[in-house]
Amino acid sequence: MEEQLQALARGLEKGKLTVVTGLRRYGKTSLILTYLNEAKLDYVYIDCRLLPEGMVSLDSFLKLLEEELTRKKWARRVLSQVEAIGFSGLEVTLKRKGERTLLNVFRALEGRVLVLDEAQELRRSGYRFDALLAYAYDHLNLKIILSGSKIGLLYRFLRVDDPEAPLYGRAFAEVKLRRLREDEAREFLERGFEQEGVKVPRRKIERAIEKFDGIIGWLTYFGYSTVTGGEDIEAVYDKAAKLALSELEHALKIYGVGEKRYREILKITTLLGEARWSEIKRGIEARHGRIPNNTLSSMLKNLVDSGFLEKDGETYKISDPVLKHGIRKFW
Ligand SMILES: Nc1ncnc2c1ncn2[C@@H]1O[C@H](COP(=O)(O)OP(=O)(O)OP(=O)(O)O)[C@@H](O)[C@H]1O
Ligand SMILES: [Mg+2]
Repeated sequence: MEEQLQALARGLEKGKLTVVTGLRRYGKTSLILTYLNEAKLDYVYIDCRLLPEGMVSLDSFLKLLEEELTRKKWARRVLSQVEAIGFSGLEVTLKRKGERTLLNVFRALEGRVLVLDEAQELRRSGYRFDALLAYAYDHLNLKIILSGSKIGLLYRFLRVDDPEAPLYGRAFAEVKLRRLREDEAREFLERGFEQEGVKVPRRKIERAIEKFDGIIGWLTYFGYSTVTGGEDIEAVYDKAAKLALSELEHALKIYGVGEKRYREILKITTLLGEARWSEIKRGIEARHGRIPNNTLSSMLKNLVDSGFLEKDGETYKISDPVLKHGIRKFW
């Protein structure tokens, strides 16, 4: 990922905001942490996926910040001047919660890097995290990295193109992660098995690339399962598919009674491989009755923005081959 490492380095050097995008398991978190560690930069890393479900409060964000600051050796020195910060034993505690404390901590972090991984989760809040980011961008010497696997949702949160939005017009760099090409995926697996001293037949590697494509997280999952358990490829494929499926099911829960129709869209798309709008509409209506065009459009947009579907010209398809296998086999 040399190219993307360089793009990330450039983004951080030249500007204040760098956005790292890529679907699930494309290697975003590894890229960011590898770079920051290799460049020996001081950073604070918040995984916004750890925020509670439902509405996100400022408090729950501060809690993650506290935990991360506790992990950092340099944080005590930097934060000792900040009011409302306490040190109880080994822990950093923010004695008062609230925006002022947060801003004071951000101010104390000047000169360092703030990483908000899966930042789209911050959109589920009454607190305007986008305004906070805009404030930090405009007034603080703080480098910010945002990442997101739900790319459409991330941009719905940032609204960089909306004149009414706090972050409108701010320059930022985007580092896009992609799948590995076939030759890269092959090299990745071969080198990994070689390092582990495990002999894996060429045929098995080729089948793994067919199934897991160039998705580095799945290739790693396959490699790890093969090295540790010697499991056969079908078993690994099924296990991975169940994992992807459970993530999807979890995400669809927010739609409540609407979930059935979301499932139907995904099933039709899986069945057809590539599905046109009109085919999806017909399929849903056959099972669930009439659906208004704008309702279907917004459902499709939600699925695309969440990274489950990909739109290619006039057709939709499931973006993750492993998830597709799961839908086909287990739904
Ligand atoms: N360049 C790399 N070299 C080796 N392994 C990698 C590399 N990038 C990612 N991986 C492995 O692939 C898996 C997925 O990577 P990572 O968690 O960084 O992806 P992600 O895009 O952040 O995924 P998610 O969307 O699930 O958060 C990890 O187990 C990681 O160790
Ligand atoms: Mg990640």
